[in-house]
Amino acid sequence: MNGKITFTIIKPGAVEKEFIGPILNIINENGFHIVAMKLLHLTQAEAEAFYAVHKERPFYSSLVESMTSGPIVVAILEKDNAVEEYRKLIGATDPSQAEEGTIRKLYAESIEANAVHGSDSDENAIIEGNFFFSTSDKFFKS
Ligand code: CMP
Repeated sequence: MNGKITFTIIKPGAVEKEFIGPILNIINENGFHIVAMKLLHLTQAEAEAFYAVHKERPFYSSLVESMTSGPIVVAILEKDNAVEEYRKLIGATDPSQAEEGTIRKLYAESIEANAVHGSDSDENAIIEGNFFFSTSDKFFKS
């Protein structure tokens, strides 16, 4: 994986606690360029579609409920080796396993309300970016 683009969500719990600013600051301080960004409130159908890959998991309905509980921030980030670099910056899915200084260690409440999402592959970064940004093609071609 050495693409230049990744996709992130700042999740409802972190938005509610006014962590948008601090999280974006960490993202910028670590050399990510914010290529596209918006604040929105997912519908049930959108959250189900976005997390469809987890449909069979026991936490699926709770995850969908949590992701629709309030507004989120979605963004496309650019940096060399973006997916891997961003996953390092956010830390482990379970914040109790996340390294000191990572976004999840600093701002997550639980494995479900884990402050941020980050794409796990270059391919998914494009799929997830396109889910939210209809004109995002131009960003992926740069
Ligand atoms: P995210 O990066 O958004 O990708 C899938 C999400 O499912 C993950 O972050 C967590 O919020 C959630 N998740 C993953 N594993 C569990 C789990 N064991 N229990 C509850 N939620 C989980």
